[in-house]
Amino acid sequence: MTNIVLIPGDGIGKEISSSVTKIMDAAGADINWIECKAGEESYLETGNPLPDETVKAIEKHRIALKGPLTTPVGAGFRSINVALRQKFNLYSNIRPAKSLPNIESPFRSVDLVIFRENTQGLYFGKEMWMDEEKKHAESMAVITRDASERIVTAAFEYARKHHRKKVTLVHKANILKLTTGLFLEIGREIAPRYPEIEFEDLIVDNMAMQMVMRPQRFDIIVTTNLFGDILSDLASGLVGGLGVTGAANIGDDAAIFEAVHGSAPDIAGKGLANPTALLFSALMLLEYLDQPRLAEKIRSAVYTVLQDHKEDCTPDVGGSGTTFTYADAICRLLKD
Ligand code: NAI
Ligand code: MG
Repeated sequence: MTNIVLIPGDGIGKEISSSVTKIMDAAGADINWIECKAGEESYLETGNPLPDETVKAIEKHRIALKGPLTTPVGAGFRSINVALRQKFNLYSNIRPAKSLPNIESPFRSVDLVIFRENTQGLYFGKEMWMDEEKKHAESMAVITRDASERIVTAAFEYARKHHRKKVTLVHKANILKLTTGLFLEIGREIAPRYPEIEFEDLIVDNMAMQMVMRPQRFDIIVTTNLFGDILSDLASGLVGGLGVTGAANIGDDAAIFEAVHGSAPDIAGKGLANPTALLFSALMLLEYLDQPRLAEKIRSAVYTVLQDHKEDCTPDVGGSGTTFTYADAICRLLKD
C-alpha cells in the first residue's frame, strides 16, 4: 500500500476529491490516503494556510494529490499552491490537453502537453511598493540557467519517452531580452541533443493566436511560469474546459498532482463540479507510481461514461448529472 498525502482543498475541492478517491478505490488502487489541511479553510480554522503537519507529511511521503486552494486576490496570504511548488522544488508543471469523446467543441484531435517552469519567472514572489503612498509597485521576474535547463530537458525527455514529434518553446524574447531571452537560448542549446525531435520557438502573443486557430499543430510546449499558466487555461478551453484537464508538479524527489483549475467558488457545494480534472491528475500520479495499466483502465471508464452515459455527466461537458452521478457511473463500470 502506498501512502499518499491528500489535500482536499477549498471550494469544490471536497466534492471532487471525495469522488476521485472513491473512483481510485473502486479501481483497486492500493493507496492509503493521508488527509491534510491547507488553503483558505485551513487559514480560517487554524490561522495558518499551510500548517506544519501538512508540510511534514509531504516531506515524509513525497507524493500528494491536492485539490484547489483559494488565494485571496490583491491582499492577504500568498498562494499556497505557488509556495508548495517552490518549497519542494517541483520545477516541472506538466499539463496535458487532449480532446475527449462526445464533448462538444469546435476543436478536434487536440493532443498537446504544456511544460510550464514552475518555480520562478514573475511568480518568484519579489513584489514591492517603491513609495509610501503606494502609487508605484514593482515586480521582479527571475530566470536562471539551471531552472531553465531543468524544465527544457524535462520537456525533451518526455517527448523522447512518449515518441512525441515536436517541442515548441514559447517566449517573449523580443521585449524581455534577458529573462525570456535566456530561456530561449537554453532551448536552442538543448534541442540539438534530441535530433529526432523537431524544435521551434514562438513569441507568446502569436502562440495564443496559433493555439486557437490550429491547435493540432502543437505537440509538446515548454515555457516560463506566467505564460504557461495562461496558455494552459487556454489549452483546457480547447478540449472541454477546466473541468477536464489534469496536471502534475514534479521535482527530483517529490511530486504534487493537482488539476489546472482553481476552487471554482461560483459552483462550490452545488454538485456541478466536474471531478475529471482532478481524476486525470490522479491518473498521472498512478503513472508516476509506475502503474500505467491501472491509469489506462480508469481513463477508459471515463471515456465510456462520456460516450454512453452522457446523462450522468456534469453540465460543463453537456451532461445533465452531478459530480456524484458521474463518479458513481465510473465506479459501476470499474466494478463490473
Ligand atoms: P477557477 O479555475 O476556479 O474557475 C474558472 C471557471 O472554471 C469557473 O467558471 C469555474 O466554475 C469553472 N471550473 C473550474 N473548475 C471546474 C470543474 N472542476 N468543473 C466545472 N467547472 C469548473 O478560477 P478562478 O475562479 O479564477 O479562481 C478561483 C480561486 O481558485 C482563486 O482563489 C484562485 O486563486 C484559485 N486557484 C487555485 C489554483 C490551484 O489550486 N492550483 C489554480 C487556479 C486558481
Ligand atoms: Mg492557473
